[in-house]
Amino acid sequence: MKELIIVTGGTGYIGSHTAVELMEAGYDVLIIDNLVNSRIEVLDGIEKITGRKPLFEKLDLCDRQGLTDCFARYPTTRAIIHFAAHKAVPESVEKPLKYYENNLLSLINLLNAMKNHGVRYFVFSSSCTVYGQPDKLPVTEESPIKKATSPYGNTKQISEEIISDVIAAGDAIEAISLRYFNPIGAHPSAHIGELPLGVPANLVPYLTQTAIGVREELRVFGDDYNTHDGSAVRDYINVVDLSRAHVVSINRLLAGKNAQGIEVFNLGTGKGLSVFEIIKAFVNATGVEFKYRVVNRRDGDIEQVYADTTMANKVLGWKAEIPLEETLRTAWKWEQTIRNQTG
Ligand code: UFG
Repeated sequence: MKELIIVTGGTGYIGSHTAVELMEAGYDVLIIDNLVNSRIEVLDGIEKITGRKPLFEKLDLCDRQGLTDCFARYPTTRAIIHFAAHKAVPESVEKPLKYYENNLLSLINLLNAMKNHGVRYFVFSSSCTVYGQPDKLPVTEESPIKKATSPYGNTKQISEEIISDVIAAGDAIEAISLRYFNPIGAHPSAHIGELPLGVPANLVPYLTQTAIGVREELRVFGDDYNTHDGSAVRDYINVVDLSRAHVVSINRLLAGKNAQGIEVFNLGTGKGLSVFEIIKAFVNATGVEFKYRVVNRRDGDIEQVYADTTMANKVLGWKAEIPLEETLRTAWKWEQTIRNQTG
């Protein structure tokens, strides 16, 4: 019998790609999502790739009773991967309570449901935002956690602390927290990808929308940073590579290979790339030119961050593999696919 894994936020960007990788690795998947920031049609995309539809429950994780009832309906659940969360940094500055309530309450409800139903294994979706602007690069898991620069970032820090405290208290929960750098790209089939609602805040969706003509020009936020070409540097990781790290983490937990307490891993490529380098790589990869213009720095942006991935490479046995240009081609194919669908 296949092992059942619950993927919260599984119709979202990283969640949907992870559902695919889990199913292709032979797991059964139950997606729990309230669809506030994703669409039900994503399930069709997953089915087109894997040949099967994942199980699905439309549910808000803040609904404690609903979650308890849901766990009771799936008694064979072995593990949870928890993606579901609000994630827009500027919105979190404007509406902190919305972020604290949703992101923390849903985590607390999930951990309670796990305890009450004897589900032991937990993978948490964290972020490199917990490091702020690191003093030393590349950033390792031992780098100091800096004061969060947004309520969103703070929910990720507090969430890791909650999980850690629950485990320290002796509850039968084992956890891996994955700190993502900058996920980009889409599934190579273009059946699933990122679906930003409204104007995208992130670089690659804004870039592909500009390249296809939905936006007039890409604004490069600052060329006066202390980096090799003046634009800000990030560690861009293919979303499929990133998703595979979740499968590896589940395998590790189910095989009992994890260490005690919460294990933390950086998920990135280990390579820092500037905004100008991303623009150049996109043009090289696709042959599509577009307009861009340098404007002022964006408030709250850090100068540069990229991962030391030694821990994930050695302990998880996972490595980012897909080359950048290939990744950007998947982002472009996805942009063309959704424009064809939506007109
Ligand atoms: N950028 C532009 N133009 C744009 C959009 C972005 O120049 O239109 C630049 C940004 O200034 C930054 C880089 O491209 O230098 C990447 O920006 P993103 O918005 O794609 O990603 P961030 O690194 O700012 O944000 C990501 C996640 C957040 C997370 C944060 C942690 O999207 O959820 O990392 O630092 F909180």
